[in-house]
Amino acid sequence: MSDPKRNMTVFEDSIATFLSPIAEYLADDTVSEVMINSPSEIFVERRGMIEKTPAVFRDEQALVAAVRNIAQFVGRRIDEDNPVLDARLPDGSRICAVLPPCSRKGTTLSIRKFSKSTPTFVDMINRGSITKEAARFLDVCIFLAKNTIISGGTGSGKTTLLNILGSRIPASQRVLVIEDSSELKIHTEHIVFFETKHGDETGKGAVSIRDLIRAALRLRPDRIVVGEVRGPEALDLITAMNTGHGGSMGTAHANTPYDALVRLETLAMMGDSNVPVAAIRRQICSAIHIVVQIKRMSDGSRRVTNIAEILPEVDDAGRYLVQDIYKFIQRGRTEDGKIIGELIPTGTLPSFMHEIETNRLPFTRDRFTPPEWYVQMKGSPKVA
Ligand SMILES: Nc1ncnc2c1ncn2[C@@H]1O[C@H](COP(=O)(O)OP(=O)(O)OP(=O)(O)O)[C@@H](O)[C@H]1O
Ligand SMILES: [Mg+2]
Repeated sequence: MSDPKRNMTVFEDSIATFLSPIAEYLADDTVSEVMINSPSEIFVERRGMIEKTPAVFRDEQALVAAVRNIAQFVGRRIDEDNPVLDARLPDGSRICAVLPPCSRKGTTLSIRKFSKSTPTFVDMINRGSITKEAARFLDVCIFLAKNTIISGGTGSGKTTLLNILGSRIPASQRVLVIEDSSELKIHTEHIVFFETKHGDETGKGAVSIRDLIRAALRLRPDRIVVGEVRGPEALDLITAMNTGHGGSMGTAHANTPYDALVRLETLAMMGDSNVPVAAIRRQICSAIHIVVQIKRMSDGSRRVTNIAEILPEVDDAGRYLVQDIYKFIQRGRTEDGKIIGELIPTGTLPSFMHEIETNRLPFTRDRFTPPEWYVQMKGSPKVA
């Protein structure tokens, strides 16, 4: 049995020399990401803001040697034939490297450092990423087993939010987590984690997210959580959501809740190009109930910008019907550039209000009333 702690020590010993130019940032807890664009162009993300560092690698060879060493350590190859490496280090940090000529400026390496703490809703609320009310509403959605997609750009905080939402799933439920490379740390009682497997040089022995979703369905899951939906598995997830695995979750790369649905649609078409787009749309709008949009703002903060409900039908033109239940409104900026704004209820009641009431959940209709300033801004209130 391999011991992760010992692995990490061996890793530290063998790689530290190669990564010594950035050792200071790897050790610094305020740095969350190190981005190396070329030997002399190294950026870090610190408290959400990206800054250039004075660090440099001796030359391109030194950087390539570091990348090859890491690849070798994690049992993977990176060379001319396989110029992209996407892997996880023993301490949980995520690395992605691309060699030239695919990377035009020279070897590129990015290290997303493993965050030692697992944030909770309380941390998100304290950081201003979500309000207490909106967090409670998401709790209600999870309790009522609403299928949820977390949508956002790269590094916007999707995985972090999925960890939090996943950990709110009622303990009685059996959860199956499926990921490309394991990063989720969902805390609940009855949980099984699956991870995809790379094939050999000919692709033999590969196990995809699709394969794992199909296997998961035979393992009596109550809920399925897919770390990131970025391929044809979208079709399998949507089918699972539509066939009795309510409360399933996943993340997708998109800039708005509407775009997240379009992205899922495109990915699902990759899964079976014979299904007409109208049929896929119908499946998507009945499968997905809630899209939570998260964004990395220009001041470096991560905020939930929309909690939208997807109605189970499309309009006459075949478009999805997406209605914001909560929406972030920016109201200004502080002198030092921090965004001032609020995630407010828009006044639109969720279509499942009756479910909230029949289940006697402590979330009354009046909590969806928007603030007065928003009502004045919009003209007329929509809440009955
Ligand atoms: N609410 C938040 N406030 C501050 N920092 C956050 C927040 N959520 C996530 N982060 C930090 O932002 C970085 C990216 O987070 P995360 O991995 O969750 O993003 P992601 O959207 O899943 O990224 P990717 O698109 O690469 O998968 C991490 O360093 C994480 O610690
Ligand atoms: Mg992620």
